[in-house]
Amino acid sequence: MTQRIPLIAGNWKMHGDRARARALLDALKPLSPAQGEVAVCVPYPYLELAQAVLGGSAVAWGAQNVAEWEEGAHTGEVAASMLAEFGCGYVIVGHSERRRDAAEDDACIARKLAQAIRLDIKPILCIGETLAQRQAGSTHAVLQAQLHGALALLDSTALTRLSIAYEPVWAIGQGQAATPAMVGDVITALRAMFGEAGASVRLLYGGSVSAANCGDFAALAGLDGLLVGGASLRGDEFTAICQRFCTRREGRSLPA
Ligand code: PGA
Repeated sequence: MTQRIPLIAGNWKMHGDRARARALLDALKPLSPAQGEVAVCVPYPYLELAQAVLGGSAVAWGAQNVAEWEEGAHTGEVAASMLAEFGCGYVIVGHSERRRDAAEDDACIARKLAQAIRLDIKPILCIGETLAQRQAGSTHAVLQAQLHGALALLDSTALTRLSIAYEPVWAIGQGQAATPAMVGDVITALRAMFGEAGASVRLLYGGSVSAANCGDFAALAGLDGLLVGGASLRGDEFTAICQRFCTRREGRSLPA
C-alpha cells in the first residue's frame, strides 16, 4: 500500500504586513505533527523572514506563484531558482484566483509546474469547478480537463512530488466548505483518472477549511491533506487544524 504523508498547507494570499507575518511565523514555528507535513505559502517579500524564523523547524515554507520561464526579461516575475534560493519547499500553482486575476490558462500552469519540479520545489496544483459548472453536472469533466492540461509537461516520476488541491471555486473564502461527501466523490474520481500512477499523488482539499470542519475531512479515505486560506492567518486556528487532521490520521495507512 502506498504511504502518502499528509500535508497541511497555509495560503496567506495577499494578507498582512511584516509585523503580522513575523508574529504568525513565530506562532507556527513549534508545530511538529508526528504524522504529517506543515507548510505556509507566504507573499514573496516575507520569504526571507519565513526562512529565518522557520529554518530548523518542522514547518516548511513556500510561495504562492512562480514564473513559467527559467529567467530573462519578464518584469515582475519571480523564477523558480529564486524561490529555491530562499529555501522554498513548496509553491502553489494554478490557484483559481490567479486563473481569474492573471488569466493563467492550463498551458501556462503546465510550464509553471515544470519550472517548480525542475528546481525540486514541490508544487501544489489547484483545480476546481465554478458553481455554474457544478450545477451543470460537469465537475468531473472540468477537473479532468484542468488536470490534463496542467500535467502535459510532466512525466510520471514527477507525480510523487506533486500535490493536487481540489478547490471548488464556489467554496473559497465563503465560510461554507464543500461537504465531505462532495469532496469524497471528487477524490475517488481523481484517483480513478490517474490510475496506477496516481497512487503516489497527494490529494488535498481547500475551500473554507476551519478547525471546526477539518475533522470531517480527515475522516475521508484517500484525502491526504488540506490547503487552508483564511484560517491559516490565525496561529491558533491553523495549529488546531494541523493537529486535528494529523491526529485523525495517526496510526492509519492511507488507502490508495
Ligand atoms: P479559504 O481559501 O480557506 O479562505 O477558503 C482557500 C484557498 O483559496 O486556498
